[in-house]
Amino acid sequence: MKSTQYHPISKFLHWSVVALVVMQFINSEFMPEVEDGGVIVPDVFLNTHFAFGAIILIPAVLLFLMRYLRPVEKAEELTPNLQTTLAVAMHYALYILLVAVPLSGWMAASAAGLEVNLFGFYKLPALVAVGSPSGEFLGEAHGFLASTLELLAIGHVAAALWHHFILKDNVLNRMRPFVTVK
Ligand code: HEM
Ligand code: HEM
Repeated sequence: MKSTQYHPISKFLHWSVVALVVMQFINSEFMPEVEDGGVIVPDVFLNTHFAFGAIILIPAVLLFLMRYLRPVEKAEELTPNLQTTLAVAMHYALYILLVAVPLSGWMAASAAGLEVNLFGFYKLPALVAVGSPSGEFLGEAHGFLASTLELLAIGHVAAALWHHFILKDNVLNRMRPFVTVK
């Protein structure tokens, strides 16, 4: 039987993804420009962007698995219409971007010859060859995909708040940590 609310592990994964994605947009503002093609001296912002960016893949994939391991009774199943179909499409689009954004960034970093290192503990392999001709394209694709993720996330948050404050239903409550929905 489907639950009326998200499993505590799903909630933890969702809010971990949110915190990490927000951090990515903040540290990307401070890190050195990679596209320039000049010599890049990795600083704390760049290293943090790469490490946390790659780590996002883990909670994102686990959240996707939890969607099927611990399914939640979706509003769209109760009232199937255009609006709820859009909600499902939005969730799938978010998942696709949560994988495509880090992977494109990782490829762009590899193409620029930059190491992707998990805080000095573990060096991740390069995904494409250094100086790969697609490097510049990958960097641009990463920026474009990240902006798309930002736009969708804003729409997603607006929808969550609309449900909570205008429709006054339990859509947001069932994703809130420590809140039990009947
Ligand atoms: C969800 C995760 C991520 C988000 C939201 C994100 C977001 C961003 C944003 C907003 C920019 C600035 C784009 C611009 O100014 O045009 C950027 C640049 C960049 N990011 Fe990420 N990023 C993520 C993950 C990663 C990962 C995992 C890596 C590498 C391992 C990475 C490598 C880069 C590189 C190399 C650039 C510079 C691109 C260039 O200037 O050519 N990113 N990222
Ligand atoms: C970077 C920002 C965010 C991303 C990438 C994101 C991603 C996601 C994803 C992929 C799901 C689908 C979970 C599933 O498989 O069922 C989801 C669900 C949800 N998110 Fe977010 N989220 C973000 C921010 C937020 C914020 C800030 C809020 C609250 C204001 C929020 C509220 C919700 C709610 C209420 C659901 C459940 C919707 C439902 O039950 O149909 N999200 N989120």
